[in-house]
Amino acid sequence: MASVKAPSDLLRRLRARFDETGYTIDGVRERLGDVAAGALAREELVPALRATKDLDPLAALIRLWWLGVPVSTAAADLPLSELVQCGLLVKVGDAVQASVHLQPWETGGYVVSDRKVRPGDPAVRRDHVVGAGGASANLAQLVTRQPVERALDLGTGCGVQVLHLADRAGHIVATDVNRRALDLAQLSWGLSGIEGVDVRRGSMFDPVEDERFDLIVSNPPFVISPHARLTYREAGYQADDFCRELVRLAPTHLNPGGHCQLLANWLHVKGEDWQDRLGGWLAETGCDGWAVQRDAQDPAEYVELWLKDAAEQGTPAYRERYDEWLAWFEAQNVTGIGFGWITLHASGTLDPVVRVEELSQQVELPVGAYLADILDSITTAHRLTDDDLLATALHLSKGVLEERIGLPGAEDPTHIILRQTRGLRRTTTVGTVEAALAGVCDGQLPLAPLLAAIGDILGEQHLSPTPLRPLIAEGYFHT
Ligand SMILES: C[S@@+](CC[C@H](N)C(=O)[O-])C[C@H]1O[C@@H](n2cnc3c(N)ncnc32)[C@H](O)[C@@H]1O
Repeated sequence: MASVKAPSDLLRRLRARFDETGYTIDGVRERLGDVAAGALAREELVPALRATKDLDPLAALIRLWWLGVPVSTAAADLPLSELVQCGLLVKVGDAVQASVHLQPWETGGYVVSDRKVRPGDPAVRRDHVVGAGGASANLAQLVTRQPVERALDLGTGCGVQVLHLADRAGHIVATDVNRRALDLAQLSWGLSGIEGVDVRRGSMFDPVEDERFDLIVSNPPFVISPHARLTYREAGYQADDFCRELVRLAPTHLNPGGHCQLLANWLHVKGEDWQDRLGGWLAETGCDGWAVQRDAQDPAEYVELWLKDAAEQGTPAYRERYDEWLAWFEAQNVTGIGFGWITLHASGTLDPVVRVEELSQQVELPVGAYLADILDSITTAHRLTDDDLLATALHLSKGVLEERIGLPGAEDPTHIILRQTRGLRRTTTVGTVEAALAGVCDGQLPLAPLLAAIGDILGEQHLSPTPLRPLIAEGYFHT
């Protein structure tokens, strides 16, 4: 497909057409219904075709831009010749077909990308521009909501992160190595009414060599594979070095107080603790860091996921590629691959703290709305000495509940659990002292007299504040 560029006036008219026809997230969701939407998520088109068979204006738009099937020129009530001329549509007999996937997005804007390949489609082109999906939304939910002056979206692809940043960043630089990605991203922004994005082509931080930002976001090409075959997911660095290099270089591009937030993959290597490996990346930066593993797969699951992502199952090369990829992992003693979030905060401290953890539960979204509290909890727990802690009046955080589990009829519980009903929704087992503190920490009295009173009741002298530290780091208590 040749490059697709459209005049801003055409994009404005197209957008107006979408608005009046109801080609919006809610409009599409309502028209397709849960069954067809579920089937589409499994790459099955038939229920969605049935839901749009009337070919009314909304159905025609869904078929054309979302499902990617030809629509008769009579049914497509659009400026067809202009759209064909700029390459957004192609003529197929007396029908037209979209050359891109054009979907409404949750911000109220639109995202233009290549259509996801389905089994049986021709092989994915090397410069395929991946659409906005689960990973894009995942990063967007993680990113801080604080307004910033300068933001960088590294590896902008279809431009979706910019849609999320547009209302809270004064100036946005968006980069990508793939020229087609930058072309399609500009269509996304044009349709979404976003102007003034500073577009640069180049790898890693090359396009912003001497520049600094208050916020860097990246959903990078994090896939770890033996060959860089597809630009949207593989950058051609050895193993997990692309994400590592992003983390290493980010601090030199952050303003004081700035944040870098990215999605990443990392290897689990035999004989090495993955938390130490990942923690090592962050510790080198001098920033406060928080890394979260949201999922981990064994090598076979991982290879299958990414071969299927490129619709390679059932192709003659499938087994060979699968085998080669597994052999490559084996040669590097890889036992698994982690996926998750990395956040760096250039807090300017001389005593940075790095926390690496695993969170598999559903968390409250968007995480970005309470990111500052998470980082504050981690750094507070790290920096308060025991004496500071004893002099501090702690509060139990909102939404923390206590659960007692024990044998029926028993006087004392076997386990006492604190459960967060908000935020990261953690749970932890605590001892009697911490449970008692959860009942009395309302910010009125410092910890020292509270511990002394609890010690009197339990017959224990000099209770230590140290067990409180992880509970502060994890947000059960705050100062
Ligand atoms: C997974 S896509 C992310 C797209 C989009 N930002 C999102 O959130 O959905 C990764 C993007 O990184 C780009 N990319 C690949 N190699 C790169 C490199 N060396 N430097 C910068 N960007 C790169 C790809 O072209 C692709 O658009």
